[in-house]
Amino acid sequence: MGNLESKSSKESLTSIIYLYLPSMHHTLVSSPLQGFTDFHFRNAFQRFFTGINVFYAPYIRFNGRMVIKPVYEHDLQVKNNPRSNVIPQVMTCSADEFIFAANYVHSLGYQELNWNLGCPYPMVTNKGMGSGLIANPDKIDRILDKVHSETDIIVSMKMRMGYEHSREILDVFPVLAKYPIKNIGIHARIGAQLYRGGVDLEGFQRCIEHTDQKLYFNGDITTVARFEEMCDRFPSIDHWMLGRGLIADPFLPEMIKDNTHEYPEDRIEVFSKYLDTLFTAAEKKLTGEKAVIRKMLSYWEYFSSTFPNPTKVVKKIKKTKTYEEYDAAVKDILAVETLSY
Ligand SMILES: Cc1cc2nc3c(=O)[nH]c(=O)nc-3n(C[C@H](O)[C@H](O)[C@H](O)COP(=O)(O)O)c2cc1C
Repeated sequence: MGNLESKSSKESLTSIIYLYLPSMHHTLVSSPLQGFTDFHFRNAFQRFFTGINVFYAPYIRFNGRMVIKPVYEHDLQVKNNPRSNVIPQVMTCSADEFIFAANYVHSLGYQELNWNLGCPYPMVTNKGMGSGLIANPDKIDRILDKVHSETDIIVSMKMRMGYEHSREILDVFPVLAKYPIKNIGIHARIGAQLYRGGVDLEGFQRCIEHTDQKLYFNGDITTVARFEEMCDRFPSIDHWMLGRGLIADPFLPEMIKDNTHEYPEDRIEVFSKYLDTLFTAAEKKLTGEKAVIRKMLSYWEYFSSTFPNPTKVVKKIKKTKTYEEYDAAVKDILAVETLSY
């Protein structure tokens, strides 16, 4: 009898391990969203949810002066990130700015700096930064050369596949191969697309075939089903970056790691507490009811996608002008809109 019991418990242990194994070796990274994934978000997220291994901070950018703006300082200070595993990011096309940022983050205790070659907006790309730099491998080479000879910062990349076309990145890989780049996170679109159209999975496959460096996949992972689809399509990838999908659905990483499509039973209760925490953070940071509600609306524009009627949800929040109205709208959304789940 005892033997039987221990055999069946062994079997159930094996099946539990098997159940968890497929996703256990996957690392989930919070992809940075300027205006969303600051330390307030990171702390609120980690108070209620799990599943994210690493958070990339939104980029540091210089405006012609070698000064780190207070907003970036607050975001990166270790005391403001008590539980997070954070990696700072810089967006620049100047080796001197890169080195300045590297020395700054190093002074705060960070070992790694992520380089943004992904931003698609003309204001950035016209200056040869973000995805506008991908078509210039020589310049990337010069910058990386100087950074690696003058600092010992660990460099990782976050890129699109190009600005005009998805093969631009193929000429960058031989340059990156000259340096100890920790990893290359690839948002599988081109800059000119902005966020339109789908991700280019064939283009990403080409990237896998053209480099031996470590690649992370990024783009449109918004559900567990989509994550599973990407895992099947790219079996060699074990690092996944979640951007808008993470904002929209904070339960997503935990569900991916737990191999489940089911939300926890206390979904609404947890989500409601999370909302309160984001709200309190917005109140501390901003002045006036309007500004706080506008901030929450920007989150709701993402949250709404997980509700049966997204347009109606956004409309309800948009109409509110006071905290009282906002609270009533949220209560209504959580009670009425979720009934159909
Ligand atoms: C509002 C917004 C802000 C973003 N800010 C950054 C940023 O600071 N740094 C960066 O590398 N990418 C930034 N991105 C790109 C995302 O990190 C991510 O690469 C992109 O949204 C694709 O991934 P997703 O489909 O999972 O969202 C931003 C995207 C959005 C929509």
